[in-house]
Amino acid sequence: MKPVVKWAGGKTQLLDRLECRMPEEYNRYFEPFIGGGALLLDVSPERAIINDCNIQLLNVYRQIRDGVEDLISIVHEFDAVPCTKERYYEMREAYNRKISGNVQDVECAALTIWINKHCFNGLYRVNKKGSFNVPWNNKQSGDSISEDNLREISDYLRNNDVTILEGDFEAGCEGVGTGDFVYFDSPYVPESDTANFTDYTKTGFEYEDHVRLSRLFRKLSERGAMVMLSNNNVPLVHELYEGFNIYETDVARMINRNADGRKGKEVIITNY
Ligand SMILES: C[S@@+](CC[C@H](N)C(=O)[O-])C[C@H]1O[C@@H](n2cnc3c(N)ncnc32)[C@H](O)[C@@H]1O
Repeated sequence: MKPVVKWAGGKTQLLDRLECRMPEEYNRYFEPFIGGGALLLDVSPERAIINDCNIQLLNVYRQIRDGVEDLISIVHEFDAVPCTKERYYEMREAYNRKISGNVQDVECAALTIWINKHCFNGLYRVNKKGSFNVPWNNKQSGDSISEDNLREISDYLRNNDVTILEGDFEAGCEGVGTGDFVYFDSPYVPESDTANFTDYTKTGFEYEDHVRLSRLFRKLSERGAMVMLSNNNVPLVHELYEGFNIYETDVARMINRNADGRKGKEVIITNY
């Protein structure tokens, strides 16, 4: 199974390197910053607790689980109309009406998927009022989904013990115990001041959040959980995770401001 949405920081390219660092055995799988869920979908653990603070994204997972056929047919209806500039902005308005009305239904999930395929770089960015404001990517056609992949994800979510939580990562880790595995893939510490990218949702992920995350990493280690984390290879990250195993790795970047910045060094950190 593969991610349904292209997501900033998506881990498809790092899968091999992440999987070879995962423990061979663990009780439950926790992923408190699920995003596009590349690792979860590739590993497909039988018992998992996933979490994110982006409610539109979580609605996509819930609708895939509970109404995959309806979701597929609505996305096909959307795809049947060629995407002109006018069409994109109309659809974006419809999406924003769902967001402002707090309507999380199957149509909203279909819009999230369709917009993700037609917006610039698959970004999810909202303004101060909470309205989605990413421009069109200038692509007129193409399928927004792979039906087989969606059905497979639906079967996976229904036939396994997968809990979907909504909120902050700390709350998403309350249930972590001895022998559980946790993978943290938070928004990254910026590589430099010009690469600051924190607009995942209304609230960015700030310095304090990184400190909070590193404290939680230590706390879960004391609880006997196996914890893995990815981030940029920058001094702050080395400082926050001093004493743990820090592996450096190269990765090609999909979402970045300029082509020169597409190759970057990242780290994978483990407490085991
Ligand atoms: C780097 S992305 C995860 C990418 C994911 N691993 C993938 O393969 O697509 C980070 C995610 O963290 C979420 N996020 C940001 N701040 C958060 C918070 N305080 N608590 C929980 N989730 C948060 C964002 O909505 C985003 O989906």
